[in-house]
Parts: sequence; structure tokens; C-alpha cells
Amino acid sequence: MDKWVKRTALVTGASCGIGAAICRKLGKSGMNVVGCGRNVQRIQEISDELKGEAGSLLALKCDLNNESDILSMFGTIKSHYGGVDVCINNAGLAHAEPLLTGDTNKWREMFNVNVLALSICTRESFKSMTERNVMDGHFIHINSMSGHRVVDLPDLHFYSATKFAVTSLARGLRNELRRLESDIRVTSISPGLVDTEFASRLFPDRKEVPKRDFKILESGDVADAVLFALQVPKHCEINEIMMRPTKQGY
Ligand SMILES: NC(=O)c1ccc[n+]([C@@H]2O[C@H](COP(=O)([O-])OP(=O)(O)OC[C@H]3O[C@@H](n4cnc5c(N)ncnc54)[C@H](OP(=O)(O)O)[C@@H]3O)[C@@H](O)[C@H]2O)c1
Repeated sequence: MDKWVKRTALVTGASCGIGAAICRKLGKSGMNVVGCGRNVQRIQEISDELKGEAGSLLALKCDLNNESDILSMFGTIKSHYGGVDVCINNAGLAHAEPLLTGDTNKWREMFNVNVLALSICTRESFKSMTERNVMDGHFIHINSMSGHRVVDLPDLHFYSATKFAVTSLARGLRNELRRLESDIRVTSISPGLVDTEFASRLFPDRKEVPKRDFKILESGDVADAVLFALQVPKHCEINEIMMRPTKQGY
């Protein structure tokens, strides 16, 4: 990770789960990490944990449903660090809203955060890289196995559609960068089940999320995949990583 020391990484959805694990690992590797989310207090606690490490974490409040929040966050990053070198689009959510009966506002929120905010952060990060002649920038989309196959679970069909969009957005982004003969790289990481708050947020009325009889991925496993993609040599671009718990059947 030497080449990334003191460079700036934006991690969306940094308050818990996979985003928090990525912030910890990048901060310990010496990067200036900017973590955003609505619950900025939780991000600040992770930042405090990282005091004394090689890098740091700047906690920024941002509701990714709101474009003006996102644009003002990029303004703050510019004044703090000059701009973004690595953009990790991690924030995402699912609501249990089937295609035949779902609530439009819940669909809209999934679309806003999982697809539109990812695209806005990508565009603004590219602008920031271009302004500063950053030739070795990196985009990492935290996608999902649900972006590659449709499981017969109605609660996840709309979510799955947003993640298929992420697969397409990662490939399209690479096409646009190649047209520019840019060396900026694009990686899509698609985990299966990960032990985070994702399931309890998906089913907020359930007192307990049912336990699996096998070990699912930990957030740190996904963060390790991020570090792997960032560390490979310049001539090598990791485009797609799919990772599942060994015993996950779908
Ligand atoms: N867990 C899994 O099984 C799994 C599997 C495959 C893919 N993924 C993907 O992994 C990514 C991270 O999910 P996770 O599992 O770590 O879930 P999580 O523990 O629920 O964390 C989700 C993160 O997204 C942020 N977020 C959600 N809505 C937001 C908004 N409007 N504005 C700003 N931030 C927002 C949350 O922050 P605030 O609430 O503080 O705003 C939180 O930090 C998502 O893209 C998810 O689709 C997860």
C-alpha cells in the first residue's frame, strides 16, 4: 500500500459494516480516508480509534439521497485534502419491497443510494482526479452477488435490479476511461452474505435476524479484497471479484 500513503480515499457508508471495515484497514495503511454517512457520530468513533495509526479518518455527514449533500461533501474534501484519489462506492441498502406490491418511495430510496449516489460520487471523483492530473486513481464499487443472478426472493428483486445496474455502471465506467486512454482503474466487488447491519435494516420489524448454520463473510473479508485490488501493479486491473461464504448455496 506504499503508493497510497497520504493519498485520499472516499468511502461512502462508513458508519458500520463493510464501509467501517474498509476505513479501518485503509486508515491503518496510511491513507487519508474520508468516510461519509448519515450517522456521523459512529464514523467519528472509528476516527478516534484510528488516532496514532499511520493514516486518518475524516468523518463527514452526508445523506446520499440528496445531491446537494454530496456536492457539498466534495467541496469539503477539496478544501481539506485537495481532492479524491480513490473512490469507494460502498453505501447501499435493501428494503423488502416486492415488484408486485412494493412501495414507490422505498424503491426510490434504493435507486437513489445504490445507483444515483454511486454515479454522482463517481462523476465528482473523476472531476477531482482530472483537475489534479491524478493518473492512477481507482474506483471500487461494492456490488453484490445479487448484481449477477436473480434469486427467487421477492424481497430482494428490486435491490437485485439496483445491483445489476452497478455491474453495468462498473463496466461502462471502464469503457469510458479506456476511450480516454486513462490509467484510472475500476473494480467491482460482489460479496454474498456478509455479517453486517444490512439484514437487520432490511427487516427492521424482526426482533432477531435468523442465524445461518454456516459461517458467513465478515466485513474484513471484503475490506481485504479492496486492499488486494488497490495493491496490484499498475499494468494489472482487477475488474470483478465475486466472493461468497464457502457454504452459501445460491
Ligand atoms: N451484508 C451483505 O450481506 C451484503 C452482501 C452483498 C453486498 N452488500 C453491499 O455492501 C454494501 C455495504 O453494506 P453493509 O452490508 O455494510 O450494510 P450496513 O451495515 O447496513 O451498512 C450500510 C451503510 O450504508 C450507509 N447508508 C445507507 N443509506 C445511506 C444514505 N442515504 N446516505 C448515506 N449513507 C447511507 C449507512 O450509513 P448511515 O446509516 O449512517 O447513513 C451504512 O454505513 C452495500 O452496498 C450492500 O449492498 C452487502
